[in-house]
Amino acid sequence: MSRAFDIGLVPGDGTGPEVLREGRKVLMAAADKYGFGLNLVEFGLGGDRYLATGELLSDSVLSELRDLSAIYLGAIGHPGVKPGILEKGILLKMRFELDLYINLRPVTLYPGVATPLANKGPEDIHFTVVRENTEGLYAGAGGILKKNTPQEVATQESINTRFGVERCLRYAFEFARHRSRRRKLTLCGKTNVLTYAFDLWERVFREVAAEYPEVETDYAHVDATCMWMIKNPEWFDVIVTDNMFGDIITDLGAMIQGGMGIAAGGNLHPGKVSMFEPIGGSAPKYTGQNKINPLAAIAAAQMMLAELGQAEAAQGIEEAIKTVLVNDVRDLGAGQMGHTTSEVGDLVMKYLLKGA
Ligand code: IPM
Ligand code: MG
Repeated sequence: MSRAFDIGLVPGDGTGPEVLREGRKVLMAAADKYGFGLNLVEFGLGGDRYLATGELLSDSVLSELRDLSAIYLGAIGHPGVKPGILEKGILLKMRFELDLYINLRPVTLYPGVATPLANKGPEDIHFTVVRENTEGLYAGAGGILKKNTPQEVATQESINTRFGVERCLRYAFEFARHRSRRRKLTLCGKTNVLTYAFDLWERVFREVAAEYPEVETDYAHVDATCMWMIKNPEWFDVIVTDNMFGDIITDLGAMIQGGMGIAAGGNLHPGKVSMFEPIGGSAPKYTGQNKINPLAAIAAAQMMLAELGQAEAAQGIEEAIKTVLVNDVRDLGAGQMGHTTSEVGDLVMKYLLKGA
């Protein structure tokens, strides 16, 4: 056995545990087939723990997470907890405290999967969004003054540091240079209105671009980006953008690639521990029904192995997912798959093991 990875499993809330269970099966099968070791350690973070103990994400858990090879997360979000508490207290805290400054979200339409875009197919819908993941409107700058009075004031500021913007853009240029299909990088911003934040983004973009003459560069305002993602998604290869715009356009991306049942992302700090997750939420109404689609979680496991240097295993999982999509699961919606959650996991595992 060449190497062993310490993977922290955070099943979380709602359907998170169900989809992570399938991802875990596939990971173990991949470890067997491709000859690497896995030590899986489970962390019971989420709404249930919060309701029982008040704990969100403690410093001691964070320091355990820091020592892992990677973190594999199901979903965070609980109907019994006010919106914002778990998201900020667990998910965003993990992103910030572990400095997971890139949110890498591929938008790939696989053959056999229906897209709501007429006349568009897998050749057209195939790009990656590089979302800045630790700054912007998510930084939590601002506050409420005179709350609950007629004079109250609420502010929420977008924080963009030279350091944060530059490392995100450098990652995106490297990605476009080495890992994209067409070496084209589009900056998505709003230079016509957000003339401070995106002035910085645009200047640094041009500066870094000078070091990557082989990468074709382009710019689109965020509203236009939404329009082109629907009208001409084939124009995009790699899109780089700030935290808030990245949040919004990746939900749009998820829809054109077939929905939340298939969309996965990696929260990365290259060289340190990174976290991988299906990007859909905890889907509480499907909890415990074995109906939710686990393919997004399995695709997150695939991304995790790719980042851990297990390219062959990642490729094997991707091929197995594609085979399931062509042979077995056309409708990706919960309860619409014609198979249960665990059957879909079993199918991926079967194709992986026999070489899809
Ligand atoms: C995402 C989610 C999160 C975000 C929420 C749950 C805090 O929408 O990962 O895109 O806004 O980043
Ligand atoms: Mg989102």
